[in-house]
Amino acid sequence: MDIFPQHDRRLKAQLVQQLDIKPQMHVLDLGCGRGAALFQLIDAVTDKGSVTAIDRDQDSLNFIQAHFSEHLETKTLQTAQVDLGNIPLPFSTDHFDRILCHNVIESIIDKPALLLECYRILKPGGKLLLSHHDFDTATFNSKFKSLNRNLIHIFCDSTKSWQDTSDGQIGRKLAQVIRTSQFKTPLHQETILIQENSFDPDGYGYLFCSWVSDNAQNSSDVSSTALDAWSIDLAEKASNGEYYFSISVMCVLAQKPVHTN
Ligand SMILES: C[S@@+](CC[C@H](N)C(=O)[O-])C[C@H]1O[C@@H](n2cnc3c(N)ncnc32)[C@H](O)[C@@H]1O
Repeated sequence: MDIFPQHDRRLKAQLVQQLDIKPQMHVLDLGCGRGAALFQLIDAVTDKGSVTAIDRDQDSLNFIQAHFSEHLETKTLQTAQVDLGNIPLPFSTDHFDRILCHNVIESIIDKPALLLECYRILKPGGKLLLSHHDFDTATFNSKFKSLNRNLIHIFCDSTKSWQDTSDGQIGRKLAQVIRTSQFKTPLHQETILIQENSFDPDGYGYLFCSWVSDNAQNSSDVSSTALDAWSIDLAEKASNGEYYFSISVMCVLAQKPVHTN
């Protein structure tokens, strides 16, 4: 059984491909969560390289311990509980060949400080992929136009319990985050459009709908009747072939120069 939904496996494969990882490389998954990118990262480094997965959430790290025991035993995978707000990170200078940072930078208060740390711990010539959903680009075909807009905006403008800060439009700002850092000019920039016509648990739209609903339940602006009607409409649209969901995932690849002075 797959432990991660299909939409997540597909996206993580696209992200890992952009990092151009070679066997023997040392890769850092910064803010790894439950490890949805780890199978692809481990495959890319082979048993000659290593992947280090860090997050501050102990439940996520426990999930990784339970599902990646084989790779942890062989030391192809290592995990550590690290708060990315605590600089310096516990790694030596020029240590990693690649860093993946997906859907994490939004939650970090001092983004320039974390970018500077990524620069320090990357080897010369090493690459960072900074990627993020831009939640404000989420599009549902809903008959409740104004409610639908409102729900997405409430979601984008709320800071969740596990976040120190939030910005539902962070995706469109990633290139700017890189340009104002030590990395300067992005090496490559691309936007992945996730597009779905079916409303099922293996899709991102289904998951996103549940997040938006849960989030709006704490808002006094939306009644539970309106929320129910919104999600019922999406399910009905799916049953008659009218369902549409899309969201953009922005990806910016940055490289530490081969020669640093
Ligand atoms: C949306 S999840 C993304 C997880 C993973 N990168 C993925 O793509 O599946 C964001 C992760 O960032 C972690 N996170 C947020 N702020 C953090 C911080 N200050 N230090 C360490 N981890 C943090 C959370 O615990 C969570 O696991």
